[in-house]
Amino acid sequence: MNAQPIGIIDSGIGGMSVTREIRRLLPQEPLAYVADEALLPYGDKPPTVIRQRLLELGDWLHAVQRVKMLVIACNTATAAAASALRRALPIPIIGMEPAVKPAASATRNRRIGVLATEGTLKSARFAGLLRTFAAGLHVYTQPCPGLVEAIEADDQARIRALLTRFLKPLRQRRIDTLVLGCTHYPLVRRHIAELAGP
Ligand code: DGL
Repeated sequence: MNAQPIGIIDSGIGGMSVTREIRRLLPQEPLAYVADEALLPYGDKPPTVIRQRLLELGDWLHAVQRVKMLVIACNTATAAAASALRRALPIPIIGMEPAVKPAASATRNRRIGVLATEGTLKSARFAGLLRTFAAGLHVYTQPCPGLVEAIEADDQARIRALLTRFLKPLRQRRIDTLVLGCTHYPLVRRHIAELAGP
């Protein structure tokens, strides 16, 4: 078997929510994790900046760390750079996108909410996702500026204050299904579950 590592990239600790699942499913695989905290947050940066950065990090993981595949454990970076990385590197590139498809099959009242970064919500990839999977649904999107930084700082009071503000309009829309469209957000899932209601 190929003992080279699997590369994983996120702007910070968000990709740990993805890494946890990779470890559970593939405990024997060596992993090489990049937390790009120098450029965090990705969510408010222009896609060209993220794309350039991901190409540099991907190159380094491939050439120096010799990864056999690359997981972009970040919705924002996938939207900005997955296609460019697939053209640039001769290894499989796995991306993340907001779970609109499973939400579409889970909802009963056809009203779903999506929490994600501004970069993800503005992307052409997200628009395509809605066209493909959300026809006939009411989809309410909510950008969450500041939340990734609060999660990185483990600032519980700020996390709760921001989530209270961001979830209020979604509650008013009577959504019955909520998509956590940024890999940082599952790290504060407990707060989200409490504040979003059933
Ligand atoms: N964790 C990233 C995502 O899934 C983005 C966080 C950031 O804004 O840096 O979108």
